[in-house]
Amino acid sequence: MFVTLVILCVFASPAVSQLTFRNVMVTCDSEQPLDDDIPFGTIVTTNKLKPHLPSTDCFKIAIQYATIHTLYQDALSDITNANYLFLENDNIEEIEPGAFKNVKLKEALSLQSNNIKEIRRGVFNDVQVPVLILSYNLIAYIDYHAFDNMTLKSIHLDHNKLPRINPFWFRHTPKLIKLNFQHNLIEQVPEFAFQMEKLNAPRIDLSHNQIREVSGDAFANTKRLDFLSLAFNRLESLERNWLKGVKVNVLDISHNRLRCLRDELAGPFSTNFIDKNPWSCGCLQDMKSKESTVFGSIVADEAFRRCNI
Ligand SMILES: *[C@@H]1O[C@H](CO)[C@@H](O)[C@H](O)[C@H]1NC(C)=O
Repeated sequence: MFVTLVILCVFASPAVSQLTFRNVMVTCDSEQPLDDDIPFGTIVTTNKLKPHLPSTDCFKIAIQYATIHTLYQDALSDITNANYLFLENDNIEEIEPGAFKNVKLKEALSLQSNNIKEIRRGVFNDVQVPVLILSYNLIAYIDYHAFDNMTLKSIHLDHNKLPRINPFWFRHTPKLIKLNFQHNLIEQVPEFAFQMEKLNAPRIDLSHNQIREVSGDAFANTKRLDFLSLAFNRLESLERNWLKGVKVNVLDISHNRLRCLRDELAGPFSTNFIDKNPWSCGCLQDMKSKESTVFGSIVADEAFRRCNI
């Protein structure tokens, strides 16, 4: 009897569990709702959302505060007529490759505030969208090829559990110009950290991590950085020439453990935010004397006050 039950369970569970959406509320907002226009909303139980959406274009499709553990293959596939697709606060833990097959969005795909632990290859490769928001999850692992061939311009991976940066992640994501890694567990910035093809002038935010070390070659393949933040980390030093040949617009290394730097700030025409470090006053004075010649402008109101500079 027991054996029979076990066998039944084993065979019965996969078929049932393939259903991604069970009694889930889906909304579709049109771009300019008319005064008496009631927004479209319906409750669905299905493995594929697309056939349940209205035939007119949706500006924003949203499923929020639902309970969805796994996005199975085809769950969102073939959605091509929306600006935004939001799957937020839905308790999503896993995404199968193919869940977003042939998805094309004009603005953004957000999976913010779920419990996603890893991003596998084949989950997002087929998606055409400028902005991907994966903030507030539990992401600790991303496959080397997870973002290959995407048309992404901006990726938000903040508030996750990433322990490191893999230099291969963005090698085939040529349009990427904004990367947000705030509030992860990154300890080090490796050499050639961001190998994007034809780098424009990306904005990279690595603030609020546990970074102690930045490789001297971290940005060796980078020509320009519009913005780089390493604020709120554990830096005690920076390699000489770590920004050699890189034109930086704004550098933020405030809130670290730096006592002295010699040539390690960004060059002329840049702005360097360096306050809230335990600067040695003699060293700070030296840095100040190179402001606007060797370095760009230096912002450190509190440290300058403390050192009477
Ligand atoms: C990206 O595109 C290339 C060329 O079409 C293809 O060989 C490769 O498998 C694609 N990568 C992924 C992860 O889909």
